[in-house]
Amino acid sequence: MHIRTLDTAELASAVAAKILLSVFDKKPAANLGVATGSTPEHLYAELRTAHARGDFSLANSKAFALDEYVGIAEDHYERYRNVLRRELVGEDKTGLTDENLYTPNGLMSDSHAAAAAHDQAIRDAGGVDIQILGIGSNGHIGFNEPGGSLVSRTHVEPLSPQTVRDNARFFEGDLSKVPTTCITQGLGTIMEARVLLLLAFGEKKADAVAQLAEGPISAKWPATIVQMHPEVYVLTDAAAGSKLELTAMYQERWKLQFGE
Ligand code: PGA
Repeated sequence: MHIRTLDTAELASAVAAKILLSVFDKKPAANLGVATGSTPEHLYAELRTAHARGDFSLANSKAFALDEYVGIAEDHYERYRNVLRRELVGEDKTGLTDENLYTPNGLMSDSHAAAAAHDQAIRDAGGVDIQILGIGSNGHIGFNEPGGSLVSRTHVEPLSPQTVRDNARFFEGDLSKVPTTCITQGLGTIMEARVLLLLAFGEKKADAVAQLAEGPISAKWPATIVQMHPEVYVLTDAAAGSKLELTAMYQERWKLQFGE
């Protein structure tokens, strides 16, 4: 695991963008795994800027969402398909086409079939080359909540009460408006991505980040499974990295391997 703590989310996102662009330099039509939530917003802005500069394009790529709410209205602002369209789709964004944006279909009557179809679409495309990840305050990645299988495939999952509280801010602060069920890539699915790029910002993420990097692998903190992945980059701001014990060593190793 490569861990780097920077002062701000903006600085950490700029480093994340460099890592992502280097994957696309080597493989221009790479498949990108995309996350939603607040965490990747700066990174997506960096990608749009790189696209405007002519340094980056998703025109020939497929993007696969980590997750989607079940039953959320097709035109709802917070439906993840709509969030990702606003962030990435179009020549004025990253060049990604709508047909190459794959999100689990939370409106299908059979959510389990929709989950299986998303998993299959990733396989059919040859897998995800680089997966962007956030982390929940409870250590979830995607919506893989504590206590779930560490080897799951894309599946239907109820949101934990903590996640409902965390996400209420996207639904006018009203807990009753937060969907209760989602389809999420499983941890087994996520672990098959060739590179993982995990971002974490803010004090609320500090415990989860400490567990992710330094805790025992446990379903209590699902993100700890990424310790078993061969190529993971973890970028945090100062607050999210504040409970790491070995920060000085991580910074030293990062410098040796990647320079500043
Ligand atoms: P956030 O969510 O980016 O909105 O903090 C991250 C997550 O829950 O995975």
